[in-house]
Amino acid sequence: MKNLKELLEHQLKDLYSAELQLVTALPEFITAANDSEIKIVLTNHFRETKIHKERLENICSELNIDPTGKICKAMDGLIRETYSFIAEESEEEVLDAGLIGEVQRIEHYEIAGYGTAARYARELGLSNIARELYKTFSEEENVDHLLNGIAESRINQAAIA
Ligand SMILES: [Fe+2]
Ligand SMILES: [Fe+2]
Repeated sequence: MKNLKELLEHQLKDLYSAELQLVTALPEFITAANDSEIKIVLTNHFRETKIHKERLENICSELNIDPTGKICKAMDGLIRETYSFIAEESEEEVLDAGLIGEVQRIEHYEIAGYGTAARYARELGLSNIARELYKTFSEEENVDHLLNGIAESRINQAAIA
């Protein structure tokens, strides 16, 4: 890569692959959750995730790049780990507590990725693109906070016994 613009393009393709993988995986996480509030939060985030994917498609078409063709191995690993956690035999509350933790790892990965990409876009003077990336960044942060709230207010306590 020659410059920050190419590095941004590389990051956008990586994020696109991550979002594509999540669009497939999130419905399975929603099915696996026992708690109805977790299901609602994840269902809303599934809708947001499809918007994140579309935002990246629009950004990439504005930059004249093809978002496809790269596999985000980190997201693949995070999703696989979540599937194998779900496959373990766990009590309902323990599964819910653990599932929140797994999804938060995924969201933190996205928060880091979007934070970096948005900053690059801003430094490159691509302010519209930066704004779109920050929108997604905030939605990833929001779901992380919502899941924290559920874990801390009820689920972790319920999993003790
Ligand atoms: Fe996302
Ligand atoms: Fe997300």
